[in-house]
Amino acid sequence: MLIQNTVPDQTVSLALLDLGCGLGDLYNYLQKNNYANISYTGLDIVPEMIAAAKVNYPAGNFQVKNFVEDALPEHDIICASGSLNIIFDPAGSQTKHIRKVIQKMYNQSRIACAFNLLNKDSEWLYAQDPRFYYADKQEFYQYCRGLCPDTRLIDGYLVNDFTLVMPRAV
Ligand SMILES: C[S@@+](CC[C@H](N)C(=O)[O-])C[C@H]1O[C@@H](n2cnc3c(N)ncnc32)[C@H](O)[C@@H]1O
Repeated sequence: MLIQNTVPDQTVSLALLDLGCGLGDLYNYLQKNNYANISYTGLDIVPEMIAAAKVNYPAGNFQVKNFVEDALPEHDIICASGSLNIIFDPAGSQTKHIRKVIQKMYNQSRIACAFNLLNKDSEWLYAQDPRFYYADKQEFYQYCRGLCPDTRLIDGYLVNDFTLVMPRAV
């Protein structure tokens, strides 16, 4: 997911929930870049990922959870980087499940939620990998705008990826 090249306020306390945190790379990024103001929680469905994240970063808060099935706790910011691309519904209703997750992320975020997806339009550039879901950018943008009229679409940073940011109304 694109991390905007702006100067963020590192004095405001924020609670961040990272869905599909993998090995904890975002936690590491925040530590290295002095985001002491961010209280981080990472969730992943794979226990081995969480175990490795805890070994790598003992001070981090990492938990085994399935973001599709489990309730999400309320946080200021909820993000998902690379994790909605993984096919978690072999029966073919991945779009429906992703929409459900987006709705949960948005409902449970106090300031904003953000996630990235692989872009279906760029499939011709790559051999399609059946493990991944390729999203219709405009379809998801319109879906998100239905929940949050102020949804921002960020693309053009990689040919095969786009990010949607959904701020909560203040
Ligand atoms: C491509 S990795 C991205 C890891 C990390 N976010 C990063 O950017 O480095 C996707 C992660 O999402 C996790 N994941 C996929 N489906 C999940 C689910 N339903 N609940 C929780 N984690 C899930 C996978 O186990 C994997 O660790």
